[in-house]
Amino acid sequence: MAVSKIVRNEQYSRDFYGMTVECPNQARMGQFYMLRAWENYPLLSRPISVFDSDGKTVSFLYKVVGKGTEVFAGLKAGDGVTLQGPLGNSFPEVDGKVALVGGGVGIAPLFLAAKQLRAAHPGCQLDLYLGFSGQALLTDEYRRAADSVTIDVGGFITDKVDPSGYDHLLTCGPEIMMRALYGKCKGADAAKVYVSMENRMACGVGACLVCSCRTAGGNKKVCKDGPVFKGKEVFGL
Ligand SMILES: Cc1cc2nc3c(=O)[nH]c(=O)nc-3n(C[C@H](O)[C@H](O)[C@H](O)COP(=O)(O)OP(=O)(O)OC[C@H]3O[C@@H](n4cnc5c(N)ncnc54)[C@H](O)[C@@H]3O)c2cc1C
Ligand code: FES
Repeated sequence: MAVSKIVRNEQYSRDFYGMTVECPNQARMGQFYMLRAWENYPLLSRPISVFDSDGKTVSFLYKVVGKGTEVFAGLKAGDGVTLQGPLGNSFPEVDGKVALVGGGVGIAPLFLAAKQLRAAHPGCQLDLYLGFSGQALLTDEYRRAADSVTIDVGGFITDKVDPSGYDHLLTCGPEIMMRALYGKCKGADAAKVYVSMENRMACGVGACLVCSCRTAGGNKKVCKDGPVFKGKEVFGL
């Protein structure tokens, strides 16, 4: 685990922040890092998805919800943060008409997903659906990364998605939102959904089972077997 230098740590809204850290590793869409900026307390490193990665820096979008993220919010450019990663699998490199559906801080991995899908398949159609409970964030950045961006504030972003219009749907956010999206997909459409799970984690590397998730193929570790799963595997039980 290396201590990396923070390039930027910026407040976007009351509780959302963006942090960029020097990091030579190129991450894949959907992967995450375990972050810490303390010696002993609050003990465990915290998993945060990669928002962007260019082989020189890695960026995170995070929401302050407790002790660990509160510490992150107090860091300044030039401070150090310990990064472990990139960890986990990634979203599949799909082509065609793709809906990327995010809720809350679950929008974070969809930025890199849009960028990497566009780079891999310049002709693909990328439609982003972003749901916020409060203020919408980073809408100009997301607009630059996709063909269209649909935003919902305070309602249900899944109401705005018609799964029948897409070859693939990639989603990240509250489980209830991902479940609702999966529920809208009938029959063959269900096979097109990939979900990124955000179970609580401890080790982040497959050693402790804290992040276990029930799937059609038995219990799996979200940190190592995921965080991305076929929707059918986790919601089709
Ligand atoms: C693979 C993965 C990727 C993630 N990516 C991001 C990201 O890009 N940006 C981001 O802001 N957060 C992300 N999270 C969630 C983030 O890890 C937690 O919000 C963070 O660990 C909370 O730490 P804390 O010390 O601030 O809060 P704690 O004091 O540990 O908890 C505060 C509150 O948040 C809840 N909480 C803690 N962890 C989670 C969780 N995993 N899911 C839902 N509720 C939780 C607790 O139940 C509690 O109510 C991700 C989680 C995983 C597993
Ligand atoms: S967090 Fe320890 S096994 Fe996944």
